[in-house]
Amino acid sequence: MTGFRSSVVYQIYPKSFYDSNGDGVGDLRGVIEKIPYIASLGVDHVWFNPFFPSPGRDNGYDISDYCAIDPAMGTMEDFEELVEALGAHGIGVMLDMVLNHTSTEHEWFRKALAGDERYQRYYYLRDPKPDGSLPTNWVSKFGGPAWEPFGDTGKYYLHLFDRTQADLDWHNPDVREEAARVVNFWRSKGVRGFRFDVINLIGKPEALLDAPEGTDDRAMYTDGPDVHTYLQWLSEQSFGQDADSITVGEMSSTSIQACIGYSNPANHELSMVFNFHHLKVDYEDGQKWTLKDFDLAALKRLLGEWALGMQEGGGWNALFWNNHDQPRALDRFGNVDEYRYESATMLASAIHLLRGTPFVYMGEEIGMSDPAYTSIDDYVDVEARNAYAELLAEGRTPQEAFRIVHRKARDNSRTPMAWDASATAGFTTGTPWLRPTGQEAVNVEREEREGSILPYYRKLISLRHELPLIAEGAYAPWEQDNPDVLAYTRTHEGDRLLVLCNLRGTDSEVTLPEGLETAEVLIANHADADAWVAAHRAVRPRPSALPLRPYEAIALLERAEPAA
Ligand code: GLC
Repeated sequence: MTGFRSSVVYQIYPKSFYDSNGDGVGDLRGVIEKIPYIASLGVDHVWFNPFFPSPGRDNGYDISDYCAIDPAMGTMEDFEELVEALGAHGIGVMLDMVLNHTSTEHEWFRKALAGDERYQRYYYLRDPKPDGSLPTNWVSKFGGPAWEPFGDTGKYYLHLFDRTQADLDWHNPDVREEAARVVNFWRSKGVRGFRFDVINLIGKPEALLDAPEGTDDRAMYTDGPDVHTYLQWLSEQSFGQDADSITVGEMSSTSIQACIGYSNPANHELSMVFNFHHLKVDYEDGQKWTLKDFDLAALKRLLGEWALGMQEGGGWNALFWNNHDQPRALDRFGNVDEYRYESATMLASAIHLLRGTPFVYMGEEIGMSDPAYTSIDDYVDVEARNAYAELLAEGRTPQEAFRIVHRKARDNSRTPMAWDASATAGFTTGTPWLRPTGQEAVNVEREEREGSILPYYRKLISLRHELPLIAEGAYAPWEQDNPDVLAYTRTHEGDRLLVLCNLRGTDSEVTLPEGLETAEVLIANHADADAWVAAHRAVRPRPSALPLRPYEAIALLERAEPAA
């Protein structure tokens, strides 16, 4: 069977997971030491954010050597040991392939700058417009224009991210060959999992053109004409040769249609895709650096459309609330102060029982939340610091700008993993590179002893392995118009699962579909869920509505053959 459908992936931000040598930065030996914990979660793969040599302008997404280990993170021997040690637990390694751009410190870019034409063809170098203005009106995703002078040549190079991240020109067959070489290098080390960074940006059109006045420039280079061809080629040359490969593409500002193309097995591109639409429901006018309560109706609509659309087109979603680029979902969609347990487990239920492959971002499984930082100096991320400066330049007060950064910064999820309640969160014996907060109350040691979120995650993860219904079942939305409750069904060989998640911190209710008379509670985040459901079932005439408490999650399973 397609193994990735019954898999769960755990994401580790290596810089913040565990520091084995006291320099304040996480490392590969630190991960090796924590393998018993990782294995105890029951996950099938670990996706590691980049740990390759990098000047670190964008925390490792600005790579200067694709086939080596950043000395601050460890050695190649450490990496080989890590692959083997995880493998001994049946856990695969998934590496982050940042192939849309290189660091400007990469030797390809350096040679290009020194005048080597072969390497100049690796990048997008363009002349200014006749009037002297930049080649296009595109903006960098990290702020400012997307073009930077290319030495003193009078030309400009394209960078959709930081100015030290130069976009590679995939039209050049040499660039594609290099990409395949990188993937094959890691395959030769036993790696079978790959996450492709912003991969839907590699198919830019040959002619780079201005976005028409008043339109979104992302449309000019996203999901471009050649992405599918390039991915098919890359698959054929590398990971597509492994029967057990698992790949996920990060798709920036994408569409369901494009993602069906990327992930329908018939196309031989990727196993699955990340999209971010559901994580923009708290953006004002689609803009990240704004403050707005999340729009629950939009969240439900997007989760439903993507689940259904991908199913109908034979595609496959990666399911997630958190990653290293997102503030903690618990702070965005839950209530950390009053309902940490309920909202954390409700959010987990909502995606772990859905059609797709769930990803758990380190710390999510113990209910970690955004740090309680009080000063802009606590933030280190280039994006956050640029945004703060831009907000001030737009006329916001320092207080307003700080409030926005505080909610939106990527550093929110990059704080060190909280292993225990100590001042350094048990992450390091030195000074952590990013300050932990909140570990007194939320940490692994405490969750293991008396917690309830961690055991809930372990149960959800094992359910996906045990029940083909969860891995393979057909999805259908239920009560899509319910203003409070996210509800859906999964069906498989006569078994039927109804998942109910109250996304509100208040009581709500949901209509029960016909035919769940004998359904049992499969998993729920209230210990008395069996009695609760039974009590409401006992009401005559049969209730059509089941009340749900704040952030309550209940999954009801009706088996084709009632268990004897
Ligand atoms: C992806 C990464 C993000 C990085 C960007 C540029 O979105 O997840 O962390 O900054 O690509 O590589």
